[in-house]
Amino acid sequence: MTEFKQSLHRDLPESTVWGFEGSYPGPTIEVLSGERVFVKWINDLPMKHLLPIDHTVHGAHVNVPEVRTVIHLHGASVEAESDGYPEAWFTKGNAQVGPHFSKEIYRYDNFMSACTLWYHDHTLGITRLNVYAGLAGFYLIRDQRERELNFPQGRFDIPLIIQDKSFNEDGSLFYPKQPKKPVPGLETSVVSAFLGNTILVNGKVWPFFNVEPRKYRFRMLNGSNTRFYRLKLDSGQYFYQIGTDGGLMEKPIGVKEIVLAPAERAEVIIDFTNLEGKRIVMTNDAPYPFPDGLLADAATVGDVMEFRVILPLSGIDTSVIPSFMVPFPKRSVQAASTFRFLSLIDKTDSYGRELMLLDNKDWDAPITENPKVGQTEVWYLLNLTPEAHPIHLHLVDLQLIDRRTFNVEKYKKEGILEYTGPAISPEPQERGRKDTVIAYAQQVTRIIMKFGPYTGLYVWHCHILEHEDYVMMRPFQVIP
Ligand code: C2O
Ligand code: CU
Ligand code: CU
Repeated sequence: MTEFKQSLHRDLPESTVWGFEGSYPGPTIEVLSGERVFVKWINDLPMKHLLPIDHTVHGAHVNVPEVRTVIHLHGASVEAESDGYPEAWFTKGNAQVGPHFSKEIYRYDNFMSACTLWYHDHTLGITRLNVYAGLAGFYLIRDQRERELNFPQGRFDIPLIIQDKSFNEDGSLFYPKQPKKPVPGLETSVVSAFLGNTILVNGKVWPFFNVEPRKYRFRMLNGSNTRFYRLKLDSGQYFYQIGTDGGLMEKPIGVKEIVLAPAERAEVIIDFTNLEGKRIVMTNDAPYPFPDGLLADAATVGDVMEFRVILPLSGIDTSVIPSFMVPFPKRSVQAASTFRFLSLIDKTDSYGRELMLLDNKDWDAPITENPKVGQTEVWYLLNLTPEAHPIHLHLVDLQLIDRRTFNVEKYKKEGILEYTGPAISPEPQERGRKDTVIAYAQQVTRIIMKFGPYTGLYVWHCHILEHEDYVMMRPFQVIP
């Protein structure tokens, strides 16, 4: 990890960013399922942070070094010592390390089936800043079944990380020092949402991509801090979705729009056959907060990127959209031995700011989620806040059971869960292997997962990075 200058748009002066191997986003790591990989993540960043740090936030107090990093492989099942625990951070040359630092070289067993993962920083108290500065990249697992299915491959298989940023005149990254209404008594304060006015895909501002008139596979990832996306093609075309966060679905589905909360992925096939000469824009109309907030500013963040069908066909397109991909064994609630009721709440901190918590517990409160290895659990995520939160668990692949509205006031006052509507099934695009699910406001979202195969310390959190840092994140421990 180093700091360097990179051109993010031809009309923008070069921006100072952070990245891996001199590149933002970092290089894509590709592995075969079952192939063990070791990575030594090296912090070679400057001592001074690129972005404003709020020292009142957990883990970022004035007595800790400013520039700390630790890398998490999102969506992977990884031994605890290599998972990138937020307090396993390290500084340049490992001169200083966090209390949970235990090894320099991370081990990834990669036993999962084909899927699109991503690695990103996970340092306690500054994840939002480190990721915004550029510390993220793709990590793809491929397997034999996927090869047999004959999807578009090679240069027709493209990962797309979608992010939003804002820039200063000189090309430097802008990140706010304060919320719109500044917090009295603080020079720098965490904000509860960051929405950039510019969209980047793979580190380029509003890019175009020249394509051949044939099928392409795109692995789309929302790598933004806060922003949700609702993606469409302005040609009215379908996306043929083939994968969710954790890999291939049972059957492809044709969808006209794709919703991605931060950290969610959707793998799609787009067919440009017979569209020679066409320019197709991928648009976004997701409001924030999602889905009932203010509509995105169509003039700026309404555009994501453009596909230009201008390359000659280099060969017959023999790739297919298969009718069946891989089985998706649905977990049954009967298999669960533990049911947890966990609320997402917001309150006001001593500075009068919005403070959001999981189960009303701070980061360093004693561990309460301690599943046994091999155990299946159902978690009821009770969202008492007025906005949606993408909830992510490390280690496990999770399944969304359903969502249901409930009487929030009653629950707040009496602790009694009273449903006010019928259970709502997951959207078709969510019916698959997930690691991040949207818990909508005023709803109970039920998820089911099996803990293991590793034991040890992991985390679950909201993947809106501003929430994760302050402080919608909790440890959980898988016990032998
Ligand atoms: Cu994408 Cu805990 O992370
Ligand atoms: Cu993760
Ligand atoms: Cu959140």
